[in-house]
Order: sequence, then structure tokens, then C-alpha cells
Amino acid sequence: MRPRLLAPSILAADFAFLARAVDSARGADYIHIDVMDGLFVPNITVGPPVVQCLKRCAPPPLDVHLMIDRPSRFVPAFLEAGADLLTLHVESDTEPNLRRSLAGIRAFGARPAITLRPGTELARLEPYLPLVDMVLIMTVEPGFGGQDFLPGMLERVRGARTLLDAVNPACDLEVDGGVTLDNAAPLAGAGANVFVAGSAIFGAPDVPARLAEFRKRLNN
Ligand code: DX5
Ligand code: ZN
Repeated sequence: MRPRLLAPSILAADFAFLARAVDSARGADYIHIDVMDGLFVPNITVGPPVVQCLKRCAPPPLDVHLMIDRPSRFVPAFLEAGADLLTLHVESDTEPNLRRSLAGIRAFGARPAITLRPGTELARLEPYLPLVDMVLIMTVEPGFGGQDFLPGMLERVRGARTLLDAVNPACDLEVDGGVTLDNAAPLAGAGANVFVAGSAIFGAPDVPARLAEFRKRLNN
């Protein structure tokens, strides 16, 4: 079985105490950082300086999800800041720019990943599948934490895993949005193996205990 990895999203943490949040989640496999620019999505969060500062907390590898317009402009800055995994949206830039950026991420020694909005057809992933180490299936509309998991997304995860198995079977499949203790195991059954959770982890009174509960659900 492919290892099942946990990526707590700091979007649900207290931004006044980010270092403390990252420390509480040091038992995770990644720390997920949501970057929003107020254009690609109607919300604004953090940029490369915050990634760079969090890197100093000796965190688990940083999984940086770019929800920004024309991300190719900022890929070098996020790599320099310490992103270990960098995820780009298919809708956010031209295909040549995205291909170039994904290749640049790999050449830098980081891991390239690709994602898409819940309403974008899965076929839009195809040109990028041989170039990436991870595909992210958004299970809510990107922009905000704390939303409910969208209906139909379990089937979509299954469809993405089928696409990947044909061309890049080693590729990880991540899910992000409305992931809870209750839907994590069904998502794993559908083929997901990297689980982003914001509210369900940082909203818990005891973050390490919640991580342990997720692991128990995922490994049973
Ligand atoms: C939404 C972000 C998610 C968000 C998930 O645009 O990509 O990473 O933090 O939050 P929850 O787990 O609360 O749905
Ligand atoms: Zn995210």
C-alpha cells in the first residue's frame, strides 16, 4: 500500500502564532501552506516571506499550494523561500508557462505538483501528468477553509487515480478541502494518499492527538 500522508493546512491556524501551530503539527508529513492573491481566488493570505520564516521552525516539508494568477512569475521566489512541494493550478497560467515552471521546480530539486478547481474537467490535467510528483484534487472551491466537502468528489478522486495509473503510477494523489476524520478513509479507498486538512486538524483542541486519530483511521 502507498504510504498515506497528512498535510495540515495552516489556513485554519491562528496566524498570530504560526510557529506554535507548525510546532504542534511536527508529527505530520507535510505542512500545507495556501497562497492566495485576491485575483485567482477572492481571498488573500501569505507570500514567500512567510514561507521563508516558517522554514526556520524546522517544519516537516512544506507543501505550498499556489492559488495565484500567473504563478510562473513567483515560482523562483517560493523555491528560494523553501517550498519542498509546489502546486500550480491548470487554470492559472498558459500551458507553456506551466510546463516551464513545473520543469523549473524539478530542476531546483523540489517536487512539482498540479491541481484544478472542482468544476474543471480532469482531462485538463493530462498534459502535465508525466511532469509531476503529485496531483491535487480540490474537493471544495479554492479560496476559503472550513467549507463542506463537495458531492461527487469521491468519484472524481477515483477518476484521477485511474488517469494517473495509466501514465504516472508512482504519482501521489492529494485531496484538499472539507477533509474530515469521517471521509478520510473513503477518500483513501478511492485512491487518495495525501490528505490536507485545515479545520479538522487545527480546529481540534489537541493537534497531535488529532493527527494520531487521522493516522488510525487511514491505516485501518
Ligand atoms: C482552500 C485551501 C485548503 C483549506 C482547507 O482553498 O486550499 O487547503 O485550508 O481547509 P479545510 O480543511 O478547513 O477545508
Ligand atoms: Zn490548499
